[in-house]
Amino acid sequence: MRSVVPDYLTDVLGDVESDTSGEPAGYIPELAAADPERLAAVFATVDGTLHGAGDVDAAFTIQSISKPFVYAMALSDRGFDRVLAQVGVEPSGEAFNEISLESETGRPRNPMINAGAITTHSLAGAENLTPVERVDRVVQGLSAFAGRQLTVDETVCASEMENAHRNLAIAHMLRSHGILTEDPRAVVDGYIRQCSVLVTARDLAMMAATLANRGMNPLSNEQVVDGSVVRQVLSVMATCGMYDAAGDWATQVGIPAKSGVAGGLIGALPGQLGIATFSPRLDRHGNSVRGVSLFERFSSDMGLHVM
Ligand code: DON
Repeated sequence: MRSVVPDYLTDVLGDVESDTSGEPAGYIPELAAADPERLAAVFATVDGTLHGAGDVDAAFTIQSISKPFVYAMALSDRGFDRVLAQVGVEPSGEAFNEISLESETGRPRNPMINAGAITTHSLAGAENLTPVERVDRVVQGLSAFAGRQLTVDETVCASEMENAHRNLAIAHMLRSHGILTEDPRAVVDGYIRQCSVLVTARDLAMMAATLANRGMNPLSNEQVVDGSVVRQVLSVMATCGMYDAAGDWATQVGIPAKSGVAGGLIGALPGQLGIATFSPRLDRHGNSVRGVSLFERFSSDMGLHVM
């Protein structure tokens, strides 16, 4: 029997296609050159069934969508107490690239903003890894979530590294508070390599489905992280994943989610499915304009609001 899901997805993509508002990320020159018309949506159920429409195999960089997965790795590799001592779990209400450190402790407010994600990058893997080994741990971990070997886009990585003044400033602040204990430049370099991992909408849907499936990849059956780690990650995605648009998102969409400045967006519905969309034009919060519209449609059409 023919599934109706791809027809539904094609229809919804057609409805948002005419919206050309927003701009691709301008502060990373290679991203500014992205084709703004790309558009995709993929559903991956927890039993491993994929439904997609549009540019489902177009490759783009994961950017901030890496943050919840690397937070999961840090929690698994170092334990909750160690990670929570260095990164909080409160929404910052500020843009993703604000400093947003707690005044008394110097802890970044949460792991979804850059300050928190630079810190969690440094907490992935064992304590004494070299920067190269740490990046390898991160790329292998992201690959396990996706269920296939992922690689770094060296051109996007170099382009962001040349323009990384803001992230370097944040990392130096973190080092001055003793939250980072390593060379700030090496940590930012590793964090930017993490953001430059190439994915497709299909990969992102599988990664989100692995979260929805309590940490087990539905196709490889690998238990990538424990269920307790996933609960922590989804909670932080629900409260902080959409940055200073988190409240609008919670009320209008109501799905734990994470966006990236290359135009990707994921949502994970525990026990049900992972959703990924891709469209490079961004709103003022750094979230994909058409991605947000697609999720609003999915949530209202299928009653996916979980809160
Ligand atoms: O740190 C940065 O600026 C980027 N590599 C990632 C930012 C990002 O994706 C923000 N999310 N929408």
